[in-house]
Parts: sequence; C-alpha cells; structure tokens
Amino acid sequence: MSETAAATAVTKMTWTPKAAEIAREAGARLREFFAQGVATEYKGDVDVVTVADRTVEKLIRTRLGEEFPDHGIYGEEGTRERMEQEFRWYVDPLDGTTNFAHGFPQFCVSLGLEQRGEGVKPDEDGTILAAVIYDPMRDELYQAERGQGATLNGKALRVSKTPDLAEALVATGFPSRKRHENPNIHFYHEFTLRSHGVRRAGSAALDLAYVAAGRLEAFWEFNLNPWDTAAGILLVTEAGGRVSDFAGGEFRLDSCETLASNGLIHDELVGMFVDLFAGRGLTAIPTPEEFAAMRARR
Ligand code: IPD
Ligand code: CA
Ligand code: CA
Repeated sequence: MSETAAATAVTKMTWTPKAAEIAREAGARLREFFAQGVATEYKGDVDVVTVADRTVEKLIRTRLGEEFPDHGIYGEEGTRERMEQEFRWYVDPLDGTTNFAHGFPQFCVSLGLEQRGEGVKPDEDGTILAAVIYDPMRDELYQAERGQGATLNGKALRVSKTPDLAEALVATGFPSRKRHENPNIHFYHEFTLRSHGVRRAGSAALDLAYVAAGRLEAFWEFNLNPWDTAAGILLVTEAGGRVSDFAGGEFRLDSCETLASNGLIHDELVGMFVDLFAGRGLTAIPTPEEFAAMRARR
C-alpha cells in the first residue's frame, strides 16, 4: 500500500482488534511460563515442545472460538477446527520454542487469518486478510489487515529504504527437523559475505515482522509452515515490502520457500538464489598455491 495510506491506516481494522487482545492474553501466559521455567520434551531429535506451547494453543483456540465462532483454526500443536469454513486462523502459539526453552527472550505469538472463498481448492491458498504478531518480552504488537497497512503498537510501519544487499542486514532460520536435508548453510555463508550480516534469531514470525518494521532488509527460510508465515507475510506486504518464492514467483503458504524483503533488494536476492542453486557465482576460496603464498607472507 502507498505511504500515505500506511500513515493513515490504523483505525479501520476489522479482525485484528479482537485477535490482538487474544495475542496479548496468550503472550501474558508465555511470560509467566518463561519466568517460572518449563521442562523440555522432544518431538524429534532436537525438535522441542513445552507445556507452554500446548497450554497457549488451547487458550488461543478457546478465545478465537468465542470471538469468531464461524472461523476455522489450524494450529501448530494439532488444532484442526472447522476446516471447511471460509475463514481460517493459522496459529503459532509460541514461535521460537527452542529460544523459550533455553531462556533466550526472542519468541512470539503469531495469528494469521486466511479467507478461502468459494472455488479455492484444498491445495490452493486463499487470501491472507489479517495478521497479529505479539512479542511479549518487548511488549511489541504488530498488526495488519489487507489494504489497511501495518502497525507496531499502533504506529504505521514501513520497510527500509536500503537499496543494496551490500548494505543490508538480513535474517534466516534453520529447522530443527531433518536438519541434514537442509541446504541453507551454503546460502547463509554466501549471504554473510555479501551483506552487513545474517541474523539467525530463532523466530521466523518475528524475523518477518522485523522486515516489515525496517529493522531487517530481508528474510529467507526453507520449509516453513503456514503457522510460521501467514501473519508475517501480510505484515511485510502491507508495510510496502515484497514476498515470493526463491525464484521470484508467487509465495504459497505450503511452497516451502519464503523470501521476504523491503522490495528494493528483492530482484538482487532472487538473482543470487538462482545463481547459487545453479552453482554459479559461488565465492571462490583460495587455491592451494594462494594459501601457500599467504603462509609464506606470515
Ligand atoms: C521455528 C522458528 C525458527 C525457524 C524454524 C521454526 P517454532 O518455529 O520459527 O526461527 O527457524 O524453522 O520451526 O518451532 O519455534 O514454532
Ligand atoms: Ca513456528
Ligand atoms: Ca511453535
């Protein structure tokens, strides 16, 4: 949306006022659990879950059911309610569980609302209409509705104006499931060499919110789930940014490729992904002769 529209958007929200209340309640529960400390259980080899994830998903499910009784709910911890309905909330009750379990204060609640109108097939995306992300440790509430702009604690958000990757701060993440199958470390390396740095803070939803807030120029990750991205991608586009797959094509909730940016560096990022997937443009490491010359100079 335009800068003028973004500056005046704040008052016309339909779904986010209630969803924000729910996210604040959920965040308050997370703060309590965080303060008291919780035991870690394992879903996979390093994929952890805590009582906080489950309790807070239950709280959100109950509260969304009260406020939006006709809406469906699709939550990370197993909630599948009213999936045939036109409106569906994607719920991540605790994005950043590994951080949370270690006492590292970077995590959030993420709620994204999708409209699945008539004719949308089960394997197609509907339209993301509303987004709420709440960071309970900083008391930062991000909200967006389609065409209404994005806000942080009520103040309009705009993506950054940095035009080059070389001057950008970017972020990524790594899954805790099937880590050995994930190629991201190679991309991490190349992006580190070509930017001001790559942050790996452990909450994809907050990473996306930070792109919307202009704190990061871009974020990418392989294999995220709809509950990680539904809210964050709307924040980015409503703050003037761009979201796509790694080839610059349409972003899909289940596409397994999330690339979000301030828009200005998007084509450069897509070009890098295309080259790196093709094995082109990789940063050269010194040859044995160059290493020998370097040793000799020491
Ligand atoms: C994880 C976080 C992390 C990302 C992982 C996600 P969870 O979500 O968003 O930043 O790298 O891929 O699974 O499990 O903490 O909700
Ligand atoms: Ca998540
Ligand atoms: Ca989670």
